[in-house]
Amino acid sequence: MTGGDKFYVTTPIYYVNDIPHIGHAYTTIAADILARYNRLQGNPVFFLTGTDEHGQKVEKAAQERGRAPKEQADIMVGNFKGLWDKLNISNDAFIRTTDPRHIKTVQGLMQMLWDKGEIEKRGYSGWYCTPDERFWTEKDLVDGKCPDCGRPVEQIHEENYFFLMSKYQERLIRHVEDDPDYILPETRRNEVLGFLKNNTLGDLCISRPISRLSWGIPLPFDDTFVTYVWFDALVNYFSATRYLAPGAENARLGEFWWPATHHLVGKDILTTHAVYWSTMLMALNLPLPRNIFAHGWWTVDGRKMSKSLGNVVDPNAIADKYGVDAFRYFLFREVPFGLDGDFSEEALVRRINTDLANDLGNLLSRFLTMAEKYFDGAIETPAAYLTVPNEFATRCIDMTGRVHNERDWSHLHFNLILETIWELIRASNNYIARTEPWKLAKGNPDGLKRVMFDLWNALRLVALSIYPFMPATAENMWKQIGLKALAGEVMQGRPEIFAWDWMPAYEIKISKGEQLFPRIEKSGEHVRKKEQKKEKAHMAEQGVRELIGIEDFAKVELKVGMVISAERVEKSEKLIKLKVDTGEERQIVAGIGKAYDPECLIGKKIVVVANLKPAKLMGIESQGMLLAATDDEGTLSILSLDRDVKQGARVK
Ligand code: MSP
Repeated sequence: MTGGDKFYVTTPIYYVNDIPHIGHAYTTIAADILARYNRLQGNPVFFLTGTDEHGQKVEKAAQERGRAPKEQADIMVGNFKGLWDKLNISNDAFIRTTDPRHIKTVQGLMQMLWDKGEIEKRGYSGWYCTPDERFWTEKDLVDGKCPDCGRPVEQIHEENYFFLMSKYQERLIRHVEDDPDYILPETRRNEVLGFLKNNTLGDLCISRPISRLSWGIPLPFDDTFVTYVWFDALVNYFSATRYLAPGAENARLGEFWWPATHHLVGKDILTTHAVYWSTMLMALNLPLPRNIFAHGWWTVDGRKMSKSLGNVVDPNAIADKYGVDAFRYFLFREVPFGLDGDFSEEALVRRINTDLANDLGNLLSRFLTMAEKYFDGAIETPAAYLTVPNEFATRCIDMTGRVHNERDWSHLHFNLILETIWELIRASNNYIARTEPWKLAKGNPDGLKRVMFDLWNALRLVALSIYPFMPATAENMWKQIGLKALAGEVMQGRPEIFAWDWMPAYEIKISKGEQLFPRIEKSGEHVRKKEQKKEKAHMAEQGVRELIGIEDFAKVELKVGMVISAERVEKSEKLIKLKVDTGEERQIVAGIGKAYDPECLIGKKIVVVANLKPAKLMGIESQGMLLAATDDEGTLSILSLDRDVKQGARVK
């Protein structure tokens, strides 16, 4: 392996008893962002995800469908793999706990712990809830019943194997205290420390008798028991380094990948990782991961996501409706990684319309349109350019530096990184507004060349910076600004292309493609408009007038005008073309030809709507409208004034 520090990132392995939801997508996209970013930096990367296929939940789901558990798992795995393809997830491997190679690793480690005396067989009594298939202690029970489902429980005595976890309590506390980045975010670290300091850690039951559960990995030293599903599942992170990681077949490289850089997990499974997994590794004399990061949970429209509420967010459907990259962007821009967040389509549409369509999409399309118009699509380095980065270039260089802030990446501050990228985008839009390239185009070709080159550079840096978050958009931008190779390929391990003065060796010719993010009409907006219209019609029917405020009336600018000339519009019975003096001369075309002869209008003082948008009537522009009244019988009368008032006077 070459390059910088190795980077090994994992997601939880997901249960195959259900279809993927937004929570699964969330962690997996986070891991993808980190993996892509590290590949860009030239670091050797191993990105692992997979499925957790043993245990009661899967066995039960299979039974309900009349399938063998492995058959059930094989079917469900497709849902996860399909989703990862759709969401552009670049995992290097996909581990399944039913893989014989994983099973062998689990059994090997289990045997090691048994041989070292880290596992003991003990009698165990507890209250068992048969439908839920789980044990409770006396104090867990609510009115003597299962605290989860409220059904009766029965006392069971059973032999089981226990991992002697309790003896690692002190060592674990010390490790978490000594390494402030071991558990992140800090609030979660404090929770784990609080738990460890205020409770006595028990030993962990790591077996289930085959009579109660057969769908698991048999213990290597007693095949009347299978492994508790968490023991089997946690080991996946290690076993993948032995047979799935790049070069793992070579023993030295297998060792190269362990320990992991980040285990990404949801807050609900932090204890299993921070306590069970850490102490298992201690007992095995294996290094601990560098970091365990627990993210928050998504609610939906302010409510907990659940099947019974029917509000489970299907990432497939959201990606189909709004696009993969918009979905990826939203998840990491909307809520700091680590906190809980609320998902709503409204919030997603808001982000698409403002950040993506307005800021990013517009910047690219304005640039491309100008590049085509002024330079026929060619972008060149202006003479003597590189020696003098101007204020805008200096800001871009500074912002790109901040996009690479090491602490933001190691602490997974995705939203801050995205904010910095958006500063770069907004600064570029402001640069266009400030330099007004359309004015430079009229007499300052050098200035124009410089501005366009600055914008090209800024767009290139934006494309590179958003690549981990929105890989397809980045590649699309990359192509549109005239770079030949696909962004992902050209960038891997070449951090020098983040430099402001990087240029490819070939001539650049932009190729304008489709708009990046078309605006989305708010769902329901047209329905709302329709309803408003219906209500107005209904009110009119009922004879209810819609009242307006004085501020509405004040919008209409009425002025006194004097008719200077009047003539009929050719081929029209109705239209008369007037020249009217309202303080300034304007042309008005009015439909009064059946009621008035043009000659008798000249010299008359009338009232005109002076701030009406110009319109064309039979091809002739009318810059305003005169006021007239008509009654039921069709009599038409122009409004005139009963005293002489100067033309241009305001009518209020
Ligand atoms: N199989 C175990 C993990 C074993 S790892 C060695 C498991 N699987 S799971 O299929 O239930 O996936 C759970 C993951 O989804 C967890 O990280 C959990 O936090 C996450 N989420 C479940 N619901 C969630 C939300 N509503 N929001 C965000 N993530 C959520 O647990």
